[in-house]
Amino acid sequence: ISDTNYSMVTEFIFLGLSNSQEFQIFLLVLFFIFYVGIVFGNLLIVITVASDSHLHSPMYFLLANLSLIDLCLSSVTAPKMIADFFSKRKVISFKGCLAQIFLVHFFGGSELVILIAMAFDRYVAICKPLHYTTVMCDNVCFGIVTAAWGTGFLHSVSQLAFAVNLPFCGPNEVDNSFYCDFPRFIKLACTDTSSLEFMVIANSGFISLGSFFILIVSYISILITVWKHSSGGSSKALSTLSTHVMVVILFFGPCIFVYIWPHPTSHLDKYLAVFDAVLTPFLNSLIYTFRNKEMKVAMRKVLCGKFMSRQGMIRTLMKRELK
Ligand SMILES: *[C@@H]1O[C@H](CO)[C@@H](O)[C@H](O)[C@H]1NC(C)=O
Repeated sequence: ISDTNYSMVTEFIFLGLSNSQEFQIFLLVLFFIFYVGIVFGNLLIVITVASDSHLHSPMYFLLANLSLIDLCLSSVTAPKMIADFFSKRKVISFKGCLAQIFLVHFFGGSELVILIAMAFDRYVAICKPLHYTTVMCDNVCFGIVTAAWGTGFLHSVSQLAFAVNLPFCGPNEVDNSFYCDFPRFIKLACTDTSSLEFMVIANSGFISLGSFFILIVSYISILITVWKHSSGGSSKALSTLSTHVMVVILFFGPCIFVYIWPHPTSHLDKYLAVFDAVLTPFLNSLIYTFRNKEMKVAMRKVLCGKFMSRQGMIRTLMKRELK
């Protein structure tokens, strides 16, 4: 990033969500609890999937990747937000602001691809069960994950490339916000940014809107298949699908609103930004933990670690003796 001489703003100031002292403390406690939950919950998912061989299937590998991305995504914004509650002036350097924008879109873009891949995985598992092991083989999974990171990178770089050289000559106060993102960032540039705004709507807005529709349509077609062949296993499939649909709505709802809504200074979208930063990653891990029996059992094993495994060993030894 070159220090262009017409750019006078070297730092940005977040004005935060509210001036009220009590509300600030409430938000601080809320964010802190959520962030601790995000770190703990998502790490637990990643460790559980890695350590339990029953969960070594594409669905759980993708889930672990989603958790890792969620963890990274909220770590870009949440720790700084929490630290900022303790300081009077919530400052971020120009480069720090660009870094936040880059990372938020990098992880966000990757998450989008993982969510689509998870829908595809369920489609193959439910509609083409005989081909599942050949279609979702190790190489395909690895390819999907690589494609996710690659897409995130391309999406982020292609947007940021236009923003890096924007001139900023003040004011430098980011209203109603606590982290840098495009809509408000662009508004602060002292040049005509209408084409750039359109680019952001096209790149972030339409991509999220398009993916959202693709995902909803594919989940509906899977649901129809499940209903047609309604049998014993269908309630488990329905529960898995409803979990995925919930996560998809939680992720894309705020995205679509923040990037496509024409008034980025409205009061609603500042709360939706909170959604994206801490609430969605928190709920993702919660939803997957509480609605998935296999996951719950495996997590209990990880948490109760040594004790359980020793008991299990004794049990198998005893069974062998009795035979
Ligand atoms: C992500 O997915 C890949 C491919 O399936 C897998 O090898 C890897 O372990 C996953 N990452 C995590 C953190 O689980």
